[in-house]
Amino acid sequence: MTVQYTQVAIIGAGPAGLALGARLDQLGIDNVILEQRSQDYVLARIRAGILEQTTVNFLGTIKADARLRQEGIPHHAVQLAFKNQLLPIGLGENTGGKVVTAYGQTEVTKDLCDLRSTSASMTIYEADEVEPHDFDTDKPFISYKINGQTHRLNCQLIAGCDGFHGVSRSRIPDTAIRLYEKSYPFGWLGLLADVPPVSNEVVYANTPRGFALCSMRSWSRSRYYIQCNPDDQVESWTDDMFWDELKRRLPDELSDQIKTGPSIEKSIAPLRSFVAEPLRFGRLLLAGDAAHVVPPTGAKGLNLAFSDIYYMSEAMARFFVEQDDQALDHYSIKALARVWKTQRFSWYMTNLTHRFSDDPFEQRVKEAELDYITSSPSGQQSIAENYVGMPL
Ligand code: FAD
Ligand code: PHB
Repeated sequence: MTVQYTQVAIIGAGPAGLALGARLDQLGIDNVILEQRSQDYVLARIRAGILEQTTVNFLGTIKADARLRQEGIPHHAVQLAFKNQLLPIGLGENTGGKVVTAYGQTEVTKDLCDLRSTSASMTIYEADEVEPHDFDTDKPFISYKINGQTHRLNCQLIAGCDGFHGVSRSRIPDTAIRLYEKSYPFGWLGLLADVPPVSNEVVYANTPRGFALCSMRSWSRSRYYIQCNPDDQVESWTDDMFWDELKRRLPDELSDQIKTGPSIEKSIAPLRSFVAEPLRFGRLLLAGDAAHVVPPTGAKGLNLAFSDIYYMSEAMARFFVEQDDQALDHYSIKALARVWKTQRFSWYMTNLTHRFSDDPFEQRVKEAELDYITSSPSGQQSIAENYVGMPL
């Protein structure tokens, strides 16, 4: 068995783990990332697409924004669609100049991996049976296997950045953690295609047939979603069925214009709201999807992972430089305050735009609320403020 030492052992090389590694490198804090998958697998995942201003700024701080500045597409508005109308909500004018940027999580991950490849810090891919130990003491360590051989990584802190199904959260005793969870009676069927996007901005459409969303990855690559049955199998949705249903859920001015084409990816994601509290257990700290999940309406999952890492890296700097253990508790408090506000917005947007039942009363109330929001300056401002993201 080999034994190594680092200050911070990071579990997971998703956006949260890679961004933490980059920030710790800048702060001069030693770190090692352990990832169960191969780098190719991590780089091939297609997920979120909209970055808040705070995320763009943080990627600037860690110097992972060169391509984002070139290729990211700023959106100055978001569109709400209902009753065959399309109504824009201005972002800049409602938020003192803030916007969001269309840039795929796949690209963000690639930029973070490229940055990591210039760092002396180690990333261990395809690590099996990663297991955090003794994090209730001041001598935590991680065990893992490579090609069947066991290794040990001693450390001072463990960062659990291993997503919703990761090992970190599951090793915290039930008596020390409180879980809040809500599942939704539908999923999202997503399709990626090399066709120009139908709209310059993201469109969130409510219809009596269910929700639909139009987004983009570039001026030649579109990402569309429709609300589907949670038990649907992706194989039972042909591309033609998807495009036909999407068109039925968009206002005529969009469905008449939409360019269709063969899918390059098609998948179904469940929708869930989930929070684990607190985010600190002794020397183990959770971040990103390991700690919380939001339904994607509102485009917040990836952005929350970055705000956690902003707070976590500040706390770790105080822990190592000022020997301030309480900074780790402050991480949990500060990050959770932002998490809950974002949970509220994601839950609200999901309720507002999706079909939950056959009840026509429910649909009319949603239409009335959408009508109110789009015709009221304060209604628009509230959506815009939340959409661009809460300040850090
Ligand atoms: P992850 O990206 O999940 O990364 C965790 C990493 O840890 C992974 O690389 C995983 O392989 C690794 N790992 C897991 N277990 C272990 C282990 N035991 N040992 C070592 N490594 C481990 N958000 C949006 O805003 N919009 C969207 O459209 C959207 N779509 C999504 C679709 C899907 C299918 C999923 C799962 C999420 C989606 N999200 C979306 C959410 C967004 O992608 C996440 O919030 C974001 O990926 C969180 O980053 P993370 O680094 O915390 O977790
Ligand atoms: C995406 O581009 O994938 C996307 C955009 C907005 C959302 C969710 C996903 O709310």
